[in-house]
Amino acid sequence: MKLNLCRSINNSKSLCKNPWELMRCRTEGCRWWDWGLGIRCIILLPRLCPSGRVSPALGGGTGFHFRDSVLAHEVRTSGQYPLVVSTWPFLQAVRAAWRAVDSGFSAIDAVVEGCSTCEELKCDGTVGPGGSPDENGETTIDALVMDGTTMEVGAVAAMRYVKDGVRAAKLVMQHTEHTLLVGEKASAFAMSMGLPGPTNLSSPESMDKWIKWKKNGCQPNFWKNVLPAKSCGPYHPKDVPSAMDLTKGTCSGSNLLGALASRSSHIGLDNHDTISMAVIDKKGHIAVGTSTNGATFKIPGRVGDGPIAGSSAYVDDEVGACGATGDGDIMMRFLPCLMPAIGWFGSCSAYLHLSDFSYQVVESMRLGMEPKLAAKDAILRIARKYPDFVGAVFAVDKNGVHAGACHGWTFQYSVRSLYMNDVEVFTVLP
Ligand SMILES: *[C@@H]1O[C@H](CO)[C@@H](O)[C@H](O)[C@H]1NC(C)=O
Repeated sequence: MKLNLCRSINNSKSLCKNPWELMRCRTEGCRWWDWGLGIRCIILLPRLCPSGRVSPALGGGTGFHFRDSVLAHEVRTSGQYPLVVSTWPFLQAVRAAWRAVDSGFSAIDAVVEGCSTCEELKCDGTVGPGGSPDENGETTIDALVMDGTTMEVGAVAAMRYVKDGVRAAKLVMQHTEHTLLVGEKASAFAMSMGLPGPTNLSSPESMDKWIKWKKNGCQPNFWKNVLPAKSCGPYHPKDVPSAMDLTKGTCSGSNLLGALASRSSHIGLDNHDTISMAVIDKKGHIAVGTSTNGATFKIPGRVGDGPIAGSSAYVDDEVGACGATGDGDIMMRFLPCLMPAIGWFGSCSAYLHLSDFSYQVVESMRLGMEPKLAAKDAILRIARKYPDFVGAVFAVDKNGVHAGACHGWTFQYSVRSLYMNDVEVFTVLP
């Protein structure tokens, strides 16, 4: 019956006259006609929204128009799980998560296995101990886990002296009513719950890097509008140009723009990396986890996007998951993972709620979204305001369809599914 419905829609010339039927068909699992026709359907749907509402989410007033600088691609697996998706070619981490989930672990436990493998291996020097020294030379840890079934989140931020970030995050989720613990209090909590510490999180390499940076006048750094501008602190506030100066286009205005542009000069692959991982377990439950030691030479106390739900990662079993990496200070202003993981048509859904369409229709749209478009849109929303930002997201829907999008750098993400002999790495060009 379902198949007949799909087939009749497929054969029908008036395909998109009835997008509701089509969306229902999609959500009932007829994926075989999906690619070509799905696109047509998605193009149609926005017409159901007032144009003013939908255009911003589509990246321009004229419908589907993506800037060339943002690329995404999408890969369809056969819709079976378990499945592991992770930022970057962190092969060992993905294998560890895969072994766990394949042997029957829950999505949460597998995500913890995967991310903590990266912490142990100090992936790229930006996960776990021994990397990304702050201005005082100290390494601190940000991590998060989120359960897409219960929507529970546990996270630690700027955690000192404890190397097991993602395990600490899981302890916050499982043994407290809280979501986020920070700083030394997070360390005390983690140790009281049995994690090893206090540990010196610095390494000879991180100290080396830090000493060189100090010798270089503490450049580059993350300060702006301070004096001294070109040497180590202590820093003092410099007069900040007022909004009026900016509209008059004075020199101070162009200085501010200069500061924004120079930001990108000290952001790169070796400076901003996060493992962000999504796992779908054998029951179809989804979890995400992240772990990072943050930005190198950050101002002590800085917390990036890593432990922020909706920014570095987000998950909802009913829809899918998202993971992000990049310039966290910028990305956390946009919550780029929220939209892909709750459904690309968020703005449209809001409208539909107000009108007389049923909730089920909105749900169908949520389920019918394309991960590729969701990932692209998340990146484009940031690029419109910060054309120089560096970042990437992956999105995976609950059926295992995954995609990535990036800006300012080439992004790679890793996948392990039932149909792969080992981890496969997908490359997304900026
Ligand atoms: C921590 O380890 C680093 C690198 O091995 C070392 O230089 C530093 O002195 C240590 N800090 C303390 C307080 O022991």
